[in-house]
Amino acid sequence: MLKQKITIIGGGNIGRSIAEGLIQSRAIKNGQLTVTRRTAKGIQDLSDLKITVSSNNVKAVRNADIVVIAVQPKQLTGVLEEINAVLAEKKRIVVSVVSGVSTDDIQEVIGSKIALFRAMPNTAISVQQSMTCITRKVGSKADEKAVHSLFENLGEVAVIEEDLMASATVLAACGIAFAMRFIRAASQGGIEIGFDSDIAQFISAQTLRGATSLLLSTGKHPEREIDKVTTPQGCTIAGLNEMEHQGFSSALIKGLITSHKKINDIAG
Ligand SMILES: NC(=O)c1ccc[n+]([C@@H]2O[C@H](COP(=O)([O-])OP(=O)(O)OC[C@H]3O[C@@H](n4cnc5c(N)ncnc54)[C@H](OP(=O)(O)O)[C@@H]3O)[C@@H](O)[C@H]2O)c1
Repeated sequence: MLKQKITIIGGGNIGRSIAEGLIQSRAIKNGQLTVTRRTAKGIQDLSDLKITVSSNNVKAVRNADIVVIAVQPKQLTGVLEEINAVLAEKKRIVVSVVSGVSTDDIQEVIGSKIALFRAMPNTAISVQQSMTCITRKVGSKADEKAVHSLFENLGEVAVIEEDLMASATVLAACGIAFAMRFIRAASQGGIEIGFDSDIAQFISAQTLRGATSLLLSTGKHPEREIDKVTTPQGCTIAGLNEMEHQGFSSALIKGLITSHKKINDIAG
């Protein structure tokens, strides 16, 4: 069980996903989690999950030990200015999941005394399967333990340097979309070779889960697992090589690099 009271400011895609994951994890009790939005009726359904729903950021922060900020980058300064005075009333930890905004930028508003972390989760956090990259700007070992414990209840955690946060955003957060597109394409191929769409999607998604489980449980290089499947002159190597002739790996790598360039352009 988590000991801290948690407030999530910004109940959009990722804020809501974090809240749903926390409820599913059973790591929090009734009354321990608050989610805010300016239009609170957009998250009213979360109150059915025993989450406190509010549009009052100041009150929600006052009631929290850990404040997770999950608004769009352009909304962040306004939120920080709004809660700044309350943040310092007692010892609190701020965790920003906002992409493209550095801890230096955040400290320009809240100063350098408040415990401050950046985290980059992905939307699989709603089912406790996030890959969350975390960096600490200010905070004790106990603060770090509290933040890690929060996200460890929601998937896997990696500690990274802040200058890799944009890369983490691309590989892990955007990565969900890239993996989804793989599954959709595999499903469409599955339909062409005879399956109904539902079973094609189920087979594609479970096969991807099997592949990732193999790598995560053995730590082996993907090519070692590919070698086991590619019989000489067989159908796997024929299909795989055709995919490479069509630019499969190249398309993925170029897509990652384009996303990374874009995120850096947006951050200025
Ligand atoms: N989506 C992802 O997979 C993902 C993953 C990791 C990180 N991130 C980052 O997380 C941030 C949010 O992304 P998102 O996709 O969740 O965006 P989003 O769906 O637009 O959510 C932002 C939420 O913030 C709320 N909000 C805006 N101003 C507010 C204020 N003053 N007080 C309280 N709530 C406020 C908005 O609701 P109202 O308009 O009703 O206030 C909205 O629900 C972004 O910086 C993004 O880069 C996203």
